[in-house]
Amino acid sequence: DWPALRSLMPSNVRIGTAVDGRVLATDARYRAVLGRDFNAATAENAMKWSQLQPTPGTYVWQVSDDLVAFAEENGLAMYGHTLVWHSSVPSWVSESWSAEELGELLRQHVTAVVSRYRGKIWAWDVVNEVLDEDGSLRDTIWLRKLGPDYIADAFRWAHAADPDARLFINDYGTEGRTRKADGLLRLVSKLRASGVPIHGVGFQSHLQWDKAPVEVAGNLRRFADRGLSVAITELDVRIQLPVTPERLARQAMLYEQMLAACLAVSTCESFTLWGFTDARSWIPYNYPGYGAACLFDSEMKPKLAHSALVDALRED
Ligand code: G3I
Repeated sequence: DWPALRSLMPSNVRIGTAVDGRVLATDARYRAVLGRDFNAATAENAMKWSQLQPTPGTYVWQVSDDLVAFAEENGLAMYGHTLVWHSSVPSWVSESWSAEELGELLRQHVTAVVSRYRGKIWAWDVVNEVLDEDGSLRDTIWLRKLGPDYIADAFRWAHAADPDARLFINDYGTEGRTRKADGLLRLVSKLRASGVPIHGVGFQSHLQWDKAPVEVAGNLRRFADRGLSVAITELDVRIQLPVTPERLARQAMLYEQMLAACLAVSTCESFTLWGFTDARSWIPYNYPGYGAACLFDSEMKPKLAHSALVDALRED
């Protein structure tokens, strides 16, 4: 047995993980570790548009509803992911629709999903990955067809559907000080200045064992200073295979540094991992030659990174 992370976290910071809804339904050991170490959960896929509405007119809520119910029963706060994204959009939603039609479809989608879980989701990723590496708006179906206002509109629709939910913008490659992070800061400042209901910024943090992001705490603080919550939303640290003790140690250091950065910023509300076990991670499929990115190995044994977090929390 190992010390449960959720019992060691400061009371104002949640520790979360992405959850694979299908594994949740079938794997008791997965459920046990999830309920023991974590007090927050994000649906890895179940709340994406393509999963919720594969065909027009019909929503398929089962996997997502089951996860929300598990979270409620086990004292995990639900983080909603994600309402507006250019990826995992159902194939029937395409640029052959007119701008008016697409705008209306998007409004209905945001409203339907947020309303269904009103009061059950503490924060939503309202828009995901809307920026390019240079900090400008990413060229997506939404930007091309609806123009840049789709971002503000999405926040307003989400806020109307659940006025108590915290509304986040989420992206990757922004956890360190990068041009993209600068662009994100400009974008959220503009949104705040025009009264858009945006409350927080999510930093995905998909890291690689040998590349540390630069000045994470200082970067997060720039957003906190503007009155925004910040959150680490999708942390994992992929290792180039073969896994060696040295690489596991470097991985542990990065996990610990990201936790330290979150704890150093007063508005950091959650520290969320993109999956907790190497048995169920997106990395091997998307980064051939890499793996072992999570806190637990594929036998569900805690790795060095897990004990590094435990040690850091005990000292904190
Ligand atoms: O559900 C279908 C299944 O019915 C079908 O038979 C199968 C065949 O391809 O695909 C299944 O869907 C897959 C889905 O995961 C569920 O397993 C998709 O193809 C696959 O593309 C999808 O990948 C997910 C990816 O986002 C795209 O949505 C990954 O699991 C998930 O980890 C990843 O998560 C993203 C975050 O949402 C945003 N930030 C980056 C992060 C990593 O890419």
